[in-house]
Amino acid sequence: MKAFIPLALTLALLLTSWVQRLEASELPLGLPPVPIPADNLQSPEKIALGKLLYHDKRFSADGTISCASCHDQQKAFADGLPTAEGVGKQKGTRNSPTVLNSAFYTTQFWDGRRASLEEQAKDPFLNPIEHGLDNHQAILKVVRGDSTYLEQFLKVFAVDPEEITIDHVVKAIASFERTIISGNSPFDRYQYGGEKDAMSEAAIRGLAIYRDKGRCQSCHSIDQTHALFTNNDFHNVGVGFKTIEPRLMEIVNAYRTAHAKGEAIDEKVLTDAETSELGRFVLTMRLSDIGRFKTSGLRNIAVTAPYMHDGSLNTLDEVIDLYDKGGEANPFLDSGIRVLNLSDQEKTDLVEFLKALTSPEYVHLQN
Ligand code: HEC
Ligand code: HEC
Repeated sequence: MKAFIPLALTLALLLTSWVQRLEASELPLGLPPVPIPADNLQSPEKIALGKLLYHDKRFSADGTISCASCHDQQKAFADGLPTAEGVGKQKGTRNSPTVLNSAFYTTQFWDGRRASLEEQAKDPFLNPIEHGLDNHQAILKVVRGDSTYLEQFLKVFAVDPEEITIDHVVKAIASFERTIISGNSPFDRYQYGGEKDAMSEAAIRGLAIYRDKGRCQSCHSIDQTHALFTNNDFHNVGVGFKTIEPRLMEIVNAYRTAHAKGEAIDEKVLTDAETSELGRFVLTMRLSDIGRFKTSGLRNIAVTAPYMHDGSLNTLDEVIDLYDKGGEANPFLDSGIRVLNLSDQEKTDLVEFLKALTSPEYVHLQN
């Protein structure tokens, strides 16, 4: 009996270290470990709760919208629309990015206006054209009236019904989002798995163009041990700029006034097409940030059309043509965007390479 206790302890220790190692080896090929904030550690129960909250349409003004409406697993966690559609079929100004691998971004949204997934998740609930709720209390009311939720919040956060806050809600959602990751693409098998025939000859040629002549890698990064295809920085490639160009200073000054009055940035950006085009400027108020948007990660790009912050490009061919001609000319154009003079063959190869970034779970969406 005496020997049993240390034995059981050793066994338990062995078992937990085995489980953790299993988790590490389960990390999809090509991805770094998921960053987990110290104040919101993962647990299976929290992830399960977050998944329910993410799919709950009761958290919307008319009971029709959940996070999954615009970030749908069946559509690689995007929505396939040029710009998002929320309560009452109202259209926003921006394209819904996929939530896949958003756990790796150092800022959230096209303009990076939120620093964490937790902070990000608070905004759509209150945006009048997304979930359309008046306040976060509306969510807590639903949660407090649902015995299954109450049991889960007690188990996950050790809180009584009255102690549940929106911060608990978004922590659970963010934990779920940190499991929405995908790698293992043909590119990953080629680059990190040593499978030299995992990509077609055309895609291999495309990778060389991506790295060198096409200059793509200078913003959409590929690292030694993993690739997120973003430098987490902001650049002006000119998309949408011509819609604000004629009245630029008027639009800038109108935003400055709204900002001074403390108007909600999230609502302003997603309901006003002209403000949306100001890009990173809405946060920093620096003119040099006008029209700068976050470098998108490119994983599963072939199955998340349409493209760019305004959803204005329908195909990867159109995207390549934009870069080939050196972006849309404007006074704030990024110095890294230049005329490329790609041949038709080089363009086709580049598209083949981008198609090799689709993970096996979503390859059926690729046509
Ligand atoms: C009506 C459609 C809609 C709904 C509902 C919605 N989103 Fe989004 N989501 C968007 C759009 C559009 C953007 C980009 C907005 C921007 O960048 O200004 C976005 C951005 C994001 C991002 C940032 C990703 C990135 O690449 O920067 C995350 C994460 C996200 N949403 C998660 C959620 C969660 C969690 C919910 C539910 C609480 C939710 N969304 C509800 C449309 C929606
Ligand atoms: C100077 C930095 C920079 C360079 C160089 C660059 N990109 Fe981008 N890329 C961005 C930014 C920023 C965005 C978002 C722009 C926007 O929405 O206005 C983007 C968006 C994209 C998108 C659309 C993403 C989506 O989810 O809608 C694709 C595809 C893309 N780039 C591919 C490429 C390819 C291929 C190349 C090389 C030919 C390239 N990029 C070169 C910065 C860059």
